[in-house]
Amino acid sequence: MGDRDEVPSDGASNDESSQSPPASFVEQANVDEDLTDTFERTWPECWDRAGELLEWDDPYATVLDDENPPFYRWFPGGTLNASYNCLDRHLESGRKNHAAIRWEGKDGERRTFTYRELYVEVNECAAALRELGVQEDDVVTIYLPMIPELPITMLACARIGAPHSVVFAGLSAAALATRMDAADSEYLLTCDGYYRRGDAFNQKSKADNAVLSVDANVTTVVVDRLGDELPHVLGSNEYDYEALLEAHSQETVEPVSRDADDMLFLMYTSGTTGEPKGVVHSTGGYLAYAAWTARTVLDIKPEDTYWCAADIGWITGHSYIVYGPLALGTTTVMYEGTPDYPDRDRLWEIVERMAVDVFYTAPTAVRAFMKWGKQYPERHDLSSLRLLGSVGEPINPRAWHWYREHVGGGECPIVDTWWQTETGGIAISTVPGVDEMKPGSAGPPLPGIQVDLLDSDATAVDPGETGYLTLERPWPGMAETLYDDDERYVAEYWRQFSDPDAGEWRYASGDAARADEDGYLTILGRVDDVLNIAGHQVSTMELESAIAGVEGIAEAAVVGGSNGGDVYAYVSTEGATDDGDALERRIIEAVETEIGPIARPETVVFTPELPKTRSGKIMRRLLEDVTNDEPLGDTSALRNPEIVGEIQSAVRDQ
Ligand code: WTA
Repeated sequence: MGDRDEVPSDGASNDESSQSPPASFVEQANVDEDLTDTFERTWPECWDRAGELLEWDDPYATVLDDENPPFYRWFPGGTLNASYNCLDRHLESGRKNHAAIRWEGKDGERRTFTYRELYVEVNECAAALRELGVQEDDVVTIYLPMIPELPITMLACARIGAPHSVVFAGLSAAALATRMDAADSEYLLTCDGYYRRGDAFNQKSKADNAVLSVDANVTTVVVDRLGDELPHVLGSNEYDYEALLEAHSQETVEPVSRDADDMLFLMYTSGTTGEPKGVVHSTGGYLAYAAWTARTVLDIKPEDTYWCAADIGWITGHSYIVYGPLALGTTTVMYEGTPDYPDRDRLWEIVERMAVDVFYTAPTAVRAFMKWGKQYPERHDLSSLRLLGSVGEPINPRAWHWYREHVGGGECPIVDTWWQTETGGIAISTVPGVDEMKPGSAGPPLPGIQVDLLDSDATAVDPGETGYLTLERPWPGMAETLYDDDERYVAEYWRQFSDPDAGEWRYASGDAARADEDGYLTILGRVDDVLNIAGHQVSTMELESAIAGVEGIAEAAVVGGSNGGDVYAYVSTEGATDDGDALERRIIEAVETEIGPIARPETVVFTPELPKTRSGKIMRRLLEDVTNDEPLGDTSALRNPEIVGEIQSAVRDQ
């Protein structure tokens, strides 16, 4: 192994023993008492604590209306406006010159918006949208990359009560068209193009192709991001964003009072199978929950510089770049581009320069940092960091320790946050000023959340056993339904474990998990990602975690061979592999010890990278096709298509 010696055993151990948050963190934490009992005793009124973080036009009558499950209504009777809660009220409370958004573009390009400046631009944009004909309840599709106009247009929609549907900028024209049609959306906000790794990408041509095939007569607004670098011509029904704003310079728009259960936005899930699901989120419950979890779990304070390095095109960015942080009046950082361009220390350079307090990212990013080496974070002063977060996949203990050691200075608590597009916000995590952390486990459910792990007969499984992760009670951030499809909402999430005749409703997350004696949950991934090895059910995540626990391994994906028994492991290493055989032996040993000889991989394939979707999820289906020498299915969602050929030839060489 080339530079494997560089990995210090202290900083990358596989240790799962529990760790206490440092006293210095506990002293200043937003939440430093265990709220679980209080929440149990006062549920559902306990959720008043979330409601109280917002300013309501009309106060809510009660916290929860559960008359018509599973269509729960949170904060019924309350009315509010999300853009008011993220902007206006902070001006009134003396924070008008405080930075709301600090944006980093390519090549050192930077923009900062104070709350006042953001307020002005959101109002101008809201006025412009009105003039174009957007009315309350019209769905506006936003197809923008990570530029300030993305949160600005979201908040402008919220201001006039028009739900937004943000479509990740990297998705194709066909994906955009499907989502616009499904949401009956007649308005599209997009841009000419954007930069990625220094290259200009044409976004407008994708938008144009989509609009051609959309049923509605679409009105399009185009942000000129690339100027002369990518000249574009506006056709009929197309408007220039800048010109529209100039025409409405300094105009203000009264925020529209929305019912708590009016739709704030619609988000299509990144699912790798089936028709995309249009998850509907409410104005009151969602915003209250995003703010409450951002405060409780991410420990965000108004004076912080907080950075979630996700893309706003997915739910993580909605809840924890835009709505949660801005509702709390903090400074939220957003950046355009990738963590390794122009250099592999781009993120750390930003953390140092902005003195970021709280940093939130995904395990796939952490594993990439591990692979690149500790020298990148180490050459920066990261001492401003107080808390680290992880989301999107299980973070295996080795990556956890590496993250804490080399990014968190060995001190920062880590919150491993489990949640989904459908949950709206974090549902399982330690509360960082209260709970001990156990590397490899997300932690207990948050106060007020009731998790049960069940077998397929809906019987609770014992600690240590794998079960379906279900939520027994509603919570304010939960999806209200799937757009225009209540039936599918019930069928996808509620039917499996509920007993409507007995009045019992239970949300099925689609994930599998295991609890320890303390109720700490280890998430094992999607239920469908379970391999049947000689009649034994083995979770791919569990196998992958065992493999990724081996020193020198950055990331692993396992799939089953079509003959029903063999396990194929695809593995990327931290440095160059010069002794693949030794490494392979250690991988097999780790699997045999941690899971059992039945799960022993038949074949280990080393690859520089694993094939991933644009949202960073490993595309196992593709690896299955490669493994079984099947024709490859749809690869358009891939972020790194070039890797597939390499993997195919590596498999053939086996
Ligand atoms: C997975 C992203 C393990 C899980 C917020 C879930 C996780 C899916 C974790 C939702 C975690 C998310 N540990 N797995 N901390 N967080 N997941 O809708 O399988 O893009 O069901 O929402 O990501 O993905 P989604």
